Amino acid sequence: TSNVQTLAADQKKLTAEIMERYIRPEMSGDDMFSGDSSEDIPVIDMSRLMDEMSREEEASKLKHACEEWGFFQLLNHGVPEKVIEEVKDNIKGFFGLPLEKKEEVAQLPGDLEGYGQAFIHSEEQKLDWADMLYLFTQPPQFRNFKHWPAEPPSFRDSLESYTDELQKVAHFILGILAANLGINHEKISELFGSQMTRMNYYPPCADAHDKVVGLTPHWDACGLTLLLQVSPVSGLQIRRNGKWLPVMPPPGALVANVGSALEILTNGRYKSIEHRAVINAKEERISIAAFHSPSFGKTVGPLAEIVDKEAPLFKSLSMQEYAKLFFSQKHGKSMVELMKLN
Ligand code: SIN
Ligand code: FE2
Repeated sequence: TSNVQTLAADQKKLTAEIMERYIRPEMSGDDMFSGDSSEDIPVIDMSRLMDEMSREEEASKLKHACEEWGFFQLLNHGVPEKVIEEVKDNIKGFFGLPLEKKEEVAQLPGDLEGYGQAFIHSEEQKLDWADMLYLFTQPPQFRNFKHWPAEPPSFRDSLESYTDELQKVAHFILGILAANLGINHEKISELFGSQMTRMNYYPPCADAHDKVVGLTPHWDACGLTLLLQVSPVSGLQIRRNGKWLPVMPPPGALVANVGSALEILTNGRYKSIEHRAVINAKEERISIAAFHSPSFGKTVGPLAEIVDKEAPLFKSLSMQEYAKLFFSQKHGKSMVELMKLN
C-alpha cells in the first residue's frame, strides 16, 4: 500500500490507475439522511451522571441512547482541557513529520501496532483514503514503546495522559450502562481492561472527495469507542434507518459508540451501529479513536445476569478467539452477525 498523505500531497502522482484502487462506485448512489438531523443524536452530560441529584434522569437518557442509537455525544467528560490540547498538538505534530520520520514506527507485516494503512485482504479490495497510527494503550504494561513515536518529544507523555483519562471515562460510562441493566459496575470495570488507540489521518482529496472513503463502513468490535475530533472538519457518518447521517461533535465533546462486544455482552440490548468516515475536498481531518474491550483472559458472550432470565442470542468466545475472528475475517461483517446463534 501507499502512504495516502504522500499521494494526496502530489496530484501528479494520482494516475487513473492509482485512483482506481480508491474510487468506490457505490458512493455515487449514496443515500444521505433526510429524516433525523445531526442535532438529534443524543447528547449525554457526564457531569449530570456524576451528580446524585440528576444521575437517574441522565442515566435513563444514556440507556435510551444505547438502545435506540448506539451513538451519543458526551459532554462535560472531565478530561482536562490541557490533556486534550496536548494530545491534539502531538498527534498533529506526528502526522506533520516527513514520511521517513513517521516510518520509524511503521507497522510491520504481521504486526497490529504502528503507522500504516488499514489491512488489505485482496487485490480487488478498495483502499481507504487514510493513514493511521495504531497502538495498544491499556493496560499500561501492554504499552510497547518501540511502536510509539519518539517525535514530537512530548508525544509519549501526552498519549499516556490522554489514554489514562479516557480509560477512566470509559469505565465510568460502562459502569452506568451496567447499572442500568442491574449489573454490578465493578464487574464491568474488571472485565474491561483493554484499550487500543487508533489515530486517523484523512488527507483532503481535491478531485474525488465524494468518490473515495476515509474509513470503510464497519462496526467497531470493541465494547465502547470514545472518539476525539482533532480537527474542526466533519467526516464521521452513522448508518441510521438505512441512510448515512453525519455526526459533528460540539466543541469539547467526545463521540461515544457502542461496539459489537457490548451488544453481545448485553444480549442485544445496546446496539452497535455501522459507521464510516468520509473525506473533505480541501481540508485534512484527524481523529483519535480509543477502543475499550474486555481484557485478554475474559469472555465475550451474553452476561450471566441477563441470560439467567432469557435465551442467549450469541455464542461466547474467549477474548483471544474473538479478536482472532475479528482480524481474520475478510468480508467486513459485524461481530454481532458472526456470533449470532443459529
Ligand atoms: C472510527 O470509526 O473508528 C473513526 C471514525 C472517524 O474518524 O470519525
Ligand atoms: Fe469505528
